[in-house]
Amino acid sequence: MRVGVLASGHGSNLEALLESVHGREVRIVCVGSDREDARALVVAAEAGIPTQSFPKAAYPDRAARDLALADWLAEHGVDLVVTAGYMAILAPEFIARYPEAIVNVHPSLLPAFPGIRAIEQALEAGAAETGVTVHRVDEGVDTGPVLLQEALVIPDGIDADGLHDLLREIEHRLLPEAVRMLARAAIT
Ligand code: GRF
Repeated sequence: MRVGVLASGHGSNLEALLESVHGREVRIVCVGSDREDARALVVAAEAGIPTQSFPKAAYPDRAARDLALADWLAEHGVDLVVTAGYMAILAPEFIARYPEAIVNVHPSLLPAFPGIRAIEQALEAGAAETGVTVHRVDEGVDTGPVLLQEALVIPDGIDADGLHDLLREIEHRLLPEAVRMLARAAIT
């Protein structure tokens, strides 16, 4: 299975995929970003993987940017798109190009706390537990069918940064596991 990863930031989930499933169950064939300065692009380049950034300002609108992104992924023969800390919402025109072939990792137990600031939302709500969800991407914000989830009891007194660190550890296991399962067609 040929995987294209989209990432906006640090790229720790990309690193987890590179370490655990790349060259095994799947091949990560390209890494795209909405941000030219994303560390994830450096991570990919160091692994010898082609990269490209698609800044919104370079296109007339979001649909045009996302269609260029879809064309670029298609040029690389991508079967599965993984959004790993990709902070832009994908246009419906993009999702139509990859029906049921986009997966996302989100730091909450969806449907609780979708969208941005998921970790802060959980703390502000006084939730007893939160977790990580890997789900298919549809046209909504974090609304697609759930593939895998893992819960975490929120430690007393923890702040958002501390909680994010705990959730990242889960993300780095759960996202590769979901990709592995999809590659093995264990999830249909
Ligand atoms: C992850 O925690 C993800 O859940 C959130 O953004 C973070 C990206 O981290 N949406 P990284 O770029 O993979 O290190």
